Amino acid sequence: MPIKTIIEPFRIKSVEPIRQTTRTQREKLLEEAGYNLFLIASENILIDLLTDSGTNAMSAEQWAAIMRGDESYAGSPSFGRFRNSVQSIMGFKHVIPTHQGRAAERILFNITCKKGDSVPNNTHFDTTRANCEFTGAEAVDLPIAEALEPSKQHPFKGNMDPVRLEQLIERVGPKRVPLVMLTVTNNSGGGQPVSMANIKTIKEICQRSGIPLYLDACRFAENAYFIKLREPGYSEKTPREIAQEMFRHADGCTMSAKKDGLANIGGFLCTNDDAVALREKDLLILTEGFPTYGGLAGRDLEAIAVGLNEALEEDYLKYRIASTAYLGNHIVAAGVPIVQPPGGHAIYIDARAFLPHIPSLEFPGVALAAELYLEGGIRSVEIGTLMFGKRDAQGVEHPGPMDLLRLAIPRRVYTQSHIDYVVEVILEVWRRREQIRGLEIVYQAPLLRHFTARFRPAGTWRRG
Ligand code: F0G
Repeated sequence: MPIKTIIEPFRIKSVEPIRQTTRTQREKLLEEAGYNLFLIASENILIDLLTDSGTNAMSAEQWAAIMRGDESYAGSPSFGRFRNSVQSIMGFKHVIPTHQGRAAERILFNITCKKGDSVPNNTHFDTTRANCEFTGAEAVDLPIAEALEPSKQHPFKGNMDPVRLEQLIERVGPKRVPLVMLTVTNNSGGGQPVSMANIKTIKEICQRSGIPLYLDACRFAENAYFIKLREPGYSEKTPREIAQEMFRHADGCTMSAKKDGLANIGGFLCTNDDAVALREKDLLILTEGFPTYGGLAGRDLEAIAVGLNEALEEDYLKYRIASTAYLGNHIVAAGVPIVQPPGGHAIYIDARAFLPHIPSLEFPGVALAAELYLEGGIRSVEIGTLMFGKRDAQGVEHPGPMDLLRLAIPRRVYTQSHIDYVVEVILEVWRRREQIRGLEIVYQAPLLRHFTARFRPAGTWRRG
């Protein structure tokens, strides 16, 4: 019989202790942090599932490459190795390094967008939306209808709705759509993949209207592996070949190397357009640095050059996708509602369904995050009314489209027993879910409020 157990395809050479706290300590820490887990020091977290961004464990080869880093201000060979690695997968003519993904977004939108424009995406990530709207353009989400039904099964829930895209282009006119973006995988929509067929369809629509297609490529390797597993005609192809095909349909990309670059910092911006690249490099020099380092050290470029290739290794992707699904499937078996099917980098609990007695405007996702911390020192993040809800001109608060709680899994960091512990904590909170109360905001910033908002238990002021 072939052996079926999927194991972590690495052994551990360097370990980092994690610290237990008591429930009493966590109660105090939570209150001091205004119930916002972003405001808790990481040494008071046991299992940190806040993000898969920059939290990856680097390989021995990456650490070795770091020693090869050449720190010359201009023309470093580290940049050459970085550019070659990016081009061998993504194929774009211009590769512009940035300190992280949002810097690439800022430069791209700054060069291409102006007030009154519309930028469609399957779902904009929060920094993507903020950078787009900062230029006065409107960030429009056009996911397929299935994407908004958490329990619905669909192999490519990250797809964009082509009909809605065509309608938008017709309504505002192609001149008001400077670019179309596809986020692979769709992070804010549940870490769900986009199919090759959808990428091709969207590209055809863009081509007809003369609009460039960009990929928000943070999790391109995970997306490629889902295509291999789920899309007819791709099972015999390597993740690398699939990724290369994905990028062939695009005119450019933004990338956070903190995800599928398997690095702790870094990003880049790619385009095939010479004129756009020239303007982007000018802006890069203003805020990020010379175009052969773009805000990164030579050693960071080296780590990314190696990491991009490791992220496409099949053994790694098999373990990666299986370990995320392991968490999802174990909590689903006990009845916990999640976004189905499990995503690539994270499990998204449907907090609205988990806590149906808490209205969206009392932030069920934030309340659930606080409970997982209290119960087991686990840090997760709300993707819901706090992140995407809006206060209108009259000051009235509107809920986000969904209230999700994301448990993002750092790459190559936690073992199966860590995940078993997470499952046990979630199930304990699930058992006592009816006792959990909602929260109300006591402070919020005007932009990206989820990072710094502070809360108190809902109804506190009424009781005095
Ligand atoms: N696009 C997507 C789809 C992302 O998930 C992120 C970051 C970015 C762009 C921005 O990249 O952080 O390097 O500036 N996502 C992280 C997360 C922060 O937790 O999902 P960045």
